[in-house]
Amino acid sequence: MCGIFGYIGSKRATPILIDGMRRLEYRGYDSTGIAIKDGDISIFKKVGKVSEMRSILPLNIQGTSGIGHTRWATHGGVTDANAHPHASASGDVVIVHNGIINNSRLLRASLMAQGIELKSETDSEALAHMIEIELAIDDDPEAAVRRALQKAVGTWGLCVLFKNHDLIVVARNGSPLVIGKGDGETFISSDGPTLSEFTDRVVYLEDGDIAVVTATSIKRSSLKGDSKKVEVTVLEKSWGEAELGAYEHFMLKEIHEQPDALRHCISGRLDRVRGNGRLGGLRLSPSDLAKVPHVRLIGCGTALNAAEIGQLLIEKLARIPAVTHIASEFRYNEPVINPNALHFVISQSGETADTLSAVKEIQLKGGQVHGVINVVGSTIARQCRQGVYIHSGPEQSVASTKAFSNMVAALTMFALQVGRSRSTSKERGQEIIHGLQQIPHLIEEYLENQGPIMEAVELVKNAKSVFFLGRGLSAPVAKEGALKLMEVAYIPCLAYPAGEMKHGPIALLEEGSPIIFIVPNDHVKEKTVSAIHESKARGAKIILIHEEGDDISLEGDVNIAIPKVHSLLSPLLTVVPLQLIAYHTAITLGHDVDRPRNLAKSVTVE
Ligand code: AGP
Repeated sequence: MCGIFGYIGSKRATPILIDGMRRLEYRGYDSTGIAIKDGDISIFKKVGKVSEMRSILPLNIQGTSGIGHTRWATHGGVTDANAHPHASASGDVVIVHNGIINNSRLLRASLMAQGIELKSETDSEALAHMIEIELAIDDDPEAAVRRALQKAVGTWGLCVLFKNHDLIVVARNGSPLVIGKGDGETFISSDGPTLSEFTDRVVYLEDGDIAVVTATSIKRSSLKGDSKKVEVTVLEKSWGEAELGAYEHFMLKEIHEQPDALRHCISGRLDRVRGNGRLGGLRLSPSDLAKVPHVRLIGCGTALNAAEIGQLLIEKLARIPAVTHIASEFRYNEPVINPNALHFVISQSGETADTLSAVKEIQLKGGQVHGVINVVGSTIARQCRQGVYIHSGPEQSVASTKAFSNMVAALTMFALQVGRSRSTSKERGQEIIHGLQQIPHLIEEYLENQGPIMEAVELVKNAKSVFFLGRGLSAPVAKEGALKLMEVAYIPCLAYPAGEMKHGPIALLEEGSPIIFIVPNDHVKEKTVSAIHESKARGAKIILIHEEGDDISLEGDVNIAIPKVHSLLSPLLTVVPLQLIAYHTAITLGHDVDRPRNLAKSVTVE
């Protein structure tokens, strides 16, 4: 999704903006641009990557303040004209904007009626002209931005540069913006973690905030004009490295980081003696947990698949009803909220608009929401104020891998904690803890001996469609495998609980149709075998993910063995070969695996 990076200080702004924007690239974008103030404001923008935009920059731009943008098209096609920044008619006001201005058609029409020529098809450009019109009244940049935004309806993360004022005005409403405080310099980013390369002191803006930023000061106020306190937060050092290192792609790097990411996630959160989870951030005592009537889990994409595993584990271990909801549907389905129930929202980025809306809906109806979040200080984490950080470290690849594993691990620990406050025995708890502690090592063992992944790739790479089937805990794993392959290899995939196959999807099978079966050694294994037989009888080619030494491997055309694993923890192992199949298929087909087409890392629009 769109990204913003801004700088004001005493150094040359251009290299700093380029560096910041390069760090935003992983979010997905189609065009880029920067505006640098060096006397006048110069704008350089272009369809394509940051590196392509860089190639059109003159070598001698000297300005020490500027704003940059990576655009993911919403209003208007992918063209140079629609790329940000956008300038006012005189060029004295220049903006970059994330979000959507819902009443832009009216605003644009009104500007055109005033004789203003609009140079792009975007909703954002209107803001530049509106601010300039307001500035003519009193030459007060903050007041001009405030009055202009009071006429706008929609969402914004906005940065405004003024030719005649040494400051940047920023505003936030429904689209994240974080200010980084350096020594004699100030940074602005739509993505908090990118600031950690420049400073560890940040100021999170709230929805409805406006801030006036200079090299040495930050002044914060509300859209109405009330002044607000500037609270500086010190960023924790992230354990993960956001650089590629020896890997060719972030997706592969992050698949290989899973053992360490899991160690970070479970470290200090398991009480072996009592056989219990120890998730302090939940702020729930055992007696609170004992009274929970039901749990709802909400997320999108990979987070939703992790939530489905969490749901099954909560029911198994805690014996309370648990339900999973697609975040984008949740608030429109008029949910009935029980204030005693627990609601978990799961999100890697902590910025997903659909998930954030669900949080607000639950809170509005008096419900309590806990976040299961990766990015520390993200909007959803701050909105929930309670929950669990999954500590995956920075995840750069659009296709989520290590965050999935850590979401599952965090939800497993939660299920254990509620379970122990109710019916789960200490011995069972200890057994699960032992199993969890083995997982990082087991994934390492598997990654050293991945099995015939490339044979699986040969079967799927030219397929019209690929089925992913599993039962029980493996049904959401099948969905996750399908999502990964679709995202990066652009192959249509269908994921079903294996028993559902015969109720319709089996009609699609032809001679040679590839099916990936996820069959760990659990209580539903034999049931899945029936679906394998039914599929083979119709000519399907079977790729089997199974535990080593299991004679079920006789059933597969391609057999990929994972180490033996506790049956409740199998998703943490079975997902890894699926991630590898997706990665290698995309590479074999020549796709940009870290930046798949049309996708964005963090989806900040509804
Ligand atoms: C995962 O591979 C996807 N890129 C996507 O489905 C993602 O999981 C979803 O958009 C939710 O993102 P979040 O975890 O940051 O909320």
